[in-house]
Amino acid sequence: MRRNWLIVGPALILVVAIAVVGSVILISLRNPAPSPEPSTATAPTSAVTTTGLAAQRERMVIDTIERRGITDQDVLQAMRTVPRHLFVPEADEARAYGDYPMPIGFGQTISQPYIVALMTRLLNLQPGDKVLEIGTGSGYQAAVLAEIPGVEVYTIEVIPELAERARAQLASLGHTHVHCRQDDGYYGWPEQAPFDAIIVTAAPDHVPQPLIDQLAVDGTMVIPVGPPGGYQTLWRFVKDADGELKAYNEGGVAFVPFTGEGIRQPSGEALVP
Ligand SMILES: C[S@@+](CC[C@H](N)C(=O)[O-])C[C@H]1O[C@@H](n2cnc3c(N)ncnc32)[C@H](O)[C@@H]1O
Repeated sequence: MRRNWLIVGPALILVVAIAVVGSVILISLRNPAPSPEPSTATAPTSAVTTTGLAAQRERMVIDTIERRGITDQDVLQAMRTVPRHLFVPEADEARAYGDYPMPIGFGQTISQPYIVALMTRLLNLQPGDKVLEIGTGSGYQAAVLAEIPGVEVYTIEVIPELAERARAQLASLGHTHVHCRQDDGYYGWPEQAPFDAIIVTAAPDHVPQPLIDQLAVDGTMVIPVGPPGGYQTLWRFVKDADGELKAYNEGGVAFVPFTGEGIRQPSGEALVP
């Protein structure tokens, strides 16, 4: 009997101990600890998300930009730095680093990252340059331009709501040296001319004469020209000392139409075929 108790005793104690621990675990599963305040709960999640988005941005640069032949370190660094996901609607953040344009509201788009990098590269920006962008849209291209060392950016958007939103977003990211204006960009920004570089991110069917006039000697203009709603040619123009433009065909693109009153004026000479 005593021998049996020696065997059964410890076994009984073990069973009781397991039962007690098990019920404690069950109780705590049924009554989970109160959730932390939302502010503390979201902090680690958003930190993880931000890290994920930074990794996506790095992949975007390697896979869709460097791999297609853009090697300019200033341009690559700018594309690495600007948080593209903050320039698209919140619901689309997770797709912001894909190799495509995306809607930003009002029938407009933020351009494909590769096209943003290509156009920035084609401008051949140097420290001290003044660059004018027509078509602020989300403000993303302006932010990329602003990341090129020593460059001052002027940008014009025709749609008031987009102009205001981009202005606020650029300011919130600390881009105080980006000058924003809501207007018809057909007429450029004469008070600030001449510009060393002009980039147009909507497609007119001809090159606006005021933009030609506001381009500095040796300056570069990058502009898609072609039928609205179709495919256009991306042109790079360089102004020589006589004020003549040399034209370089940089390939086929598809941009949203250039709108506003100015483009509907009868145009002068056709600069490109
Ligand atoms: C492809 S989106 C630009 C994308 C923009 N660069 C970005 O990074 O989001 C073209 C923009 O050009 C604007 N636009 C079209 N015609 C314009 C004009 N005459 N003057 C200024 N902006 C114009 C459109 O409203 C649109 O926001």
